[in-house]
Amino acid sequence: MPVILGIESSCDETSAAVCVDGHILSNVIANQTIHEAYGGVVPELASRVHQQNIVPAVQQALLNAKVSKNDVDAVAFTRGPGLLGSLLVGVSFAKAFALAKNIPLIDINHMQAHVLAHFIGDNKPSFPFLCLTVSGGHTQIVLVKDYFDMEVIGQTLDDAAGEAMDKTSKILGLPYPGGPLIDKYARLGNADAYQFPEPQISGFDFSFSGLKTAILYFIRDKVAVNPDFVQQNLNDICASVEKRIATILLNKLNKAAKAYGISDIALAGGVSANTGLRAGLLALGEKNNWRCFIPKMEYCTDNAAMIAIAGYYKYLKGEFTDQSVAPLARMPL
Ligand code: KG4
Ligand code: ZN
Repeated sequence: MPVILGIESSCDETSAAVCVDGHILSNVIANQTIHEAYGGVVPELASRVHQQNIVPAVQQALLNAKVSKNDVDAVAFTRGPGLLGSLLVGVSFAKAFALAKNIPLIDINHMQAHVLAHFIGDNKPSFPFLCLTVSGGHTQIVLVKDYFDMEVIGQTLDDAAGEAMDKTSKILGLPYPGGPLIDKYARLGNADAYQFPEPQISGFDFSFSGLKTAILYFIRDKVAVNPDFVQQNLNDICASVEKRIATILLNKLNKAAKAYGISDIALAGGVSANTGLRAGLLALGEKNNWRCFIPKMEYCTDNAAMIAIAGYYKYLKGEFTDQSVAPLARMPL
């Protein structure tokens, strides 16, 4: 019955979770609202807030799980990729905890953990499966052969899907993070009101920078004629942008699923919380006879439950790291 404490601090969420024998008993997430006014995460501020939140988050996670700190068998933590200053807080906490309790340390790749979030709960995909991981920093189609044997078969050549959401919302004058707001307004709009371009990129790769520029110029030209254009048409703009981002993602996923002959298809990362993308995947899955796996909302955006479950599978393999471990801003799958 291994008890794993999971720690996540790669970007702007401080999170701690407890996993007992492969079951998540708690998942505490402290969001940082301080970045809203800046239109994006300010790394220096993020690490300072992690420093304030990490101990209370861990204490709350242990309390919610009704587990004493003396019962913890191993500490799993996000080693990377992410913001170095943010990662340092989680890595240093994990090391100190493991040293004090004389228990093993388990280093986790954040992007692998997003994929492994599908192993929380009973409805698990079968290997090999494809996972579309879409977050603020990454957009990847991953061929998942085993728990820690993953291959990126397609990725963005420039901006990530979440970045496209956040940059669009910034153009529209909305606060950070914009993805949830685009989702909210899109529900009230007409997704066919405006047509934005779909980039023609070969293979399974993506590009979102051209779309971002097209949206910027579209808004600039409309506002030149009518200064209230954005306020008057916010819902339709958000619905049209969301639809284009979702179709870019799903068209490539469809192509990859057909090329690899795989029918277990999963969605992961912060953008997998998007209503239009979730519905689009389910519709495509029904058409293609796929088994679709979409994480629960709390496991879409950054969370320590996914770190704890990944830690559990590494614990079973006996794969530990040592006190010399350092965070990695970049960390391939
Ligand atoms: O995985 P995540 O929490 O952090 C990273 O590892 O980057 O993803 C954050 C991203 C942000 O870009 C945010 O705007 C986007 O996920 N996001 C959404 C939604 N919720 C979060 N995008 C679209 N619709 C949503 N409902
Ligand atoms: Zn993430």
